[in-house]
Amino acid sequence: MKKSLIISLMVAALVCVFALPAVIAGNAPADNMVLKAPEGVKMTKAPVDFSHKGHEGYGIDCMVCHHKAASKDAITGCTAEGCHVDASKAAKKDPKGFYQAWHSKKADASCLGCHKKEKKAGKKDIPVSCKSCHPKK
Ligand code: HEC
Ligand code: HEC
Ligand code: HEC
Repeated sequence: MKKSLIISLMVAALVCVFALPAVIAGNAPADNMVLKAPEGVKMTKAPVDFSHKGHEGYGIDCMVCHHKAASKDAITGCTAEGCHVDASKAAKKDPKGFYQAWHSKKADASCLGCHKKEKKAGKKDIPVSCKSCHPKK
């Protein structure tokens, strides 16, 4: 075999080794997320740090949070078309609005809803105050 061909094959093999994990990961979520209001909405609070891996590690089923997804392989973001898109003041109390997605006290899928329930059940350090999730500003 020609030396140049061997080199090309080696390069191709290397590309496969490094590119494959990215393909397999597909639409896997990022680990440390910074959650923000949708584009164009003026934020009144600081963005919120959210450890996706951490929450998977607490043993919460994917479908508790991604409650409207048809399956684990069809998960979209919370502000996907038809979901919690409306970030207007008027929609603040609407369960389908943007605000209630994170703060509904009635839904296990909401950050605050689940955290309040966990706190009642005895978890002392779980964030429930505004400041604990929205640190600065
Ligand atoms: C504690 C709640 C919670 C749990 C449990 C959870 N997720 Fe998520 N996930 C989120 C939040 C919040 C986002 C960010 C959504 C956004 O930006 O609108 C997200 C984002 C995602 C995204 C990216 C969606 C996109 O297109 O923006 C995928 C994929 C995903 N999660 C899959 C999973 C899978 C699979 C599991 C189970 C192994 C899981 N999630 C468990 C809360 C959770
Ligand atoms: C279904 C329940 C549930 C939901 C929904 C949920 N959490 Fe949590 N969260 C937990 C539990 C359980 C802990 C860990 C408490 C402990 O063991 O100390 C936790 C811990 C945390 C912590 C502190 C420790 C860490 O992992 O960083 C932060 C910050 C946090 N959650 C943010 C959020 C945000 C933001 C959301 C919404 C996007 C959210 N959580 C949604 C259950 C939930
Ligand atoms: C468990 C975490 C958590 C707690 C506690 C929490 N929030 Fe949020 N909040 C979020 C997440 C996640 C978002 C969506 C991402 C964003 O907009 O920053 C959000 C968004 C918001 C928004 C819309 C975006 C903006 O910046 O204007 C407001 C207003 C808000 N929260 C106010 C509050 C107030 C007031 C409290 C206390 C009563 C509070 N939050 C407690 C997680 C939390």
